[in-house]
Amino acid sequence: MKICNPLKRYSLAFGILVLLLSQSTPVFSQESPEKMEWFKDAKLGIFIHWGIYSVNGIDESWSFFNDYISYDDYMKQLSGFTASKYDPEKWARLIKSSGAKYAVLTAKHHDGVALWDTKASDLSVVKKTPAGKDLVGPLMNALEKEGIKKGIYYSVLDWSHPDYDRNTRETFRYKNDPVRFQKFVDFNFKQLEELSSKYNPDLYWFDGDWEHKPEEWKSAELKAKLLTYNKNLIINSRLGPGYGDYDTPEQGVPVTRPSSEFWELCMTMNNSWGYQGNDHAYKTPSELLRIFVDCLHMGGNLLLDFGPKPDGTIPEEAENILTEFGRWTTKHESAIYETQAGIPDGHIFAPTTLSPDKTILYIYLDYKVNESLAIKGLKNKIQRVWVVGNGTKLQAREVGKMYWSSVPGMKYIDIPDNVYDKDITVLAVLLDGPVDLYREKGQVIESN
Ligand code: GLC
Repeated sequence: MKICNPLKRYSLAFGILVLLLSQSTPVFSQESPEKMEWFKDAKLGIFIHWGIYSVNGIDESWSFFNDYISYDDYMKQLSGFTASKYDPEKWARLIKSSGAKYAVLTAKHHDGVALWDTKASDLSVVKKTPAGKDLVGPLMNALEKEGIKKGIYYSVLDWSHPDYDRNTRETFRYKNDPVRFQKFVDFNFKQLEELSSKYNPDLYWFDGDWEHKPEEWKSAELKAKLLTYNKNLIINSRLGPGYGDYDTPEQGVPVTRPSSEFWELCMTMNNSWGYQGNDHAYKTPSELLRIFVDCLHMGGNLLLDFGPKPDGTIPEEAENILTEFGRWTTKHESAIYETQAGIPDGHIFAPTTLSPDKTILYIYLDYKVNESLAIKGLKNKIQRVWVVGNGTKLQAREVGKMYWSSVPGMKYIDIPDNVYDKDITVLAVLLDGPVDLYREKGQVIESN
């Protein structure tokens, strides 16, 4: 059996190149900076991987690419994809109630099966599955009704398309047949123009760019074309370096703050993007909320993924996680949306964020503190401390402040047992002005 981890085997060299390039070519918004406003404040998005792979409950597209199943057997799943209980309004309500502000649906994964009635190919759930109808439009409408921004995932590579032959991908790569590859690129343009004109998404989440260079995908032309449909369109970073508006770290929570101004961590709830009934390795709601808070602390978004079943029902575990997110995001609304990245690590043993004017420091505790919470190196005076979503006022005291030294004292906050949230407790610390931190070396007598 040929097992090839594609990210290792095909794109390691290219990946390194991309990494190097992306460090010298930061991802930035080339159009109006205002278009990123909603994205910056959204904080939570929901990713939906829905496709025929949910029928057997196997890896989306990769399962045939890696020869875990033959291509023909993979495609037999078409006959089991019914969408018979698809309730896009229910999906949109659940997404909204989780506190998410945008959602991204896989309109077409690497397997090439379109979830809408594409005229560019016959390979769609409309023409080839018992579902027999457009699945993209109804969700986009339902999201719009709920005030949720509409995102479409689209794989630029297509392992089913006759002009993108997956069997020759290793050696042929259309290097010697640009005419044929151009036919494929035209097909991508056609599908994307269909999606833009039918559904006018707020965001495109591209994927699969690693098999070709941006010039081969015609990324610049594609982006320009899509912007003619919506000048405020946001594009993720997977059309090649320099074309995206934001960065997309995947699965691993960043340890240090990503360098790009806008970023989003995409993450599965268990270990699978699509529905896999055999994958019970769900992170708990509390664990996922901690990941979410890590993103907030570093000024990014979380795009949390679930995979619906072939009939369109949402797995119970996913529904439960979204409901638990809703409980926490509703209670802590003021400490989520419109916050910005918090203060550097080292001042508090906890993630933090700041209000837009930087006068409120939010502190996120996923543990019960021992006696009191300590804040080091905070020059500001604390005006008031309260427990977000609970209101209890807490006492703060400063200890060890020498009147003749500029080194701030230790600030301690006492937290009674009865104010803790079952997942993450949030404290709001109102300062006497924008946060002002002591970042020097800490000598008692400082030379001028
Ligand atoms: C990777 C995977 C793909 C998945 C995507 C989501 O690119 O190849 O299957 O859809 O991540 O971020």
